[in-house]
Amino acid sequence: MSLFISMEGSDGCGKTTQMNLLEQTLREKGYSVTRSREPGGTPIAEKIRELVLDPENAAMDERAEALLYAASRAQHYKEVIRPALDRGDIMLCDRFVDSSLVYQGIGRELGVPQVAAVNEWAIRGLMPDLTLILYIGYEEGLRRKNRQTAGHLDRLEQASEAFHRRVNEGYLTLAEMYPDRVRLIDATGDIETVREAVWRVVEEKIKAAERK
Ligand code: TYD
Repeated sequence: MSLFISMEGSDGCGKTTQMNLLEQTLREKGYSVTRSREPGGTPIAEKIRELVLDPENAAMDERAEALLYAASRAQHYKEVIRPALDRGDIMLCDRFVDSSLVYQGIGRELGVPQVAAVNEWAIRGLMPDLTLILYIGYEEGLRRKNRQTAGHLDRLEQASEAFHRRVNEGYLTLAEMYPDRVRLIDATGDIETVREAVWRVVEEKIKAAERK
């Protein structure tokens, strides 16, 4: 059995903590797990990550930005994701195509269908089996992020409030657009409550995949 799970959410939603906990639970249960993140996950893709997040590149065109994320994803697919799924692993990815649909498609207003088309080509039509969106709302995200970063913001984090509000709302839109694949998790609760909510959804998906 192979399974591809991506985790999404706006800045400050607690994604890294929950990824750590989910990876740990899966390993304890004996699953073979490959974990990675986007943008990045391979040496070439990490170079693209530096380029796209560097605050010095303030003049970057929105389409160039969308294409760079897609380029990073194409490389990541080839070197990490496809091989992991071919081995029968559970592939855990911290952000994947939905980040582009939301940040570039909705946040940068390039359009979800347009960004989806570019990405479909980059990742050879592969979509996650399950996408978990950790949802906290704009204000709560901002509060947490300010605490975490102490003012050091990357290029995306420096984008306008309107952009980040669109991203936040955009995740709700995405959950409505892809109800079979995308599950919205209320991430406003404490770490343990969110961990349990994440595990319920993942366990259900694993059981369904094992029945197949
Ligand atoms: P990162 O530090 O990985 O953010 P986080 O810890 O919140 O996951 O930075 C990635 C940034 O890039 C984040 O602001 C979201 C953005 N992003 C896009 O705009 N499009 C994409 O396709 C991806 C993968 C990320």
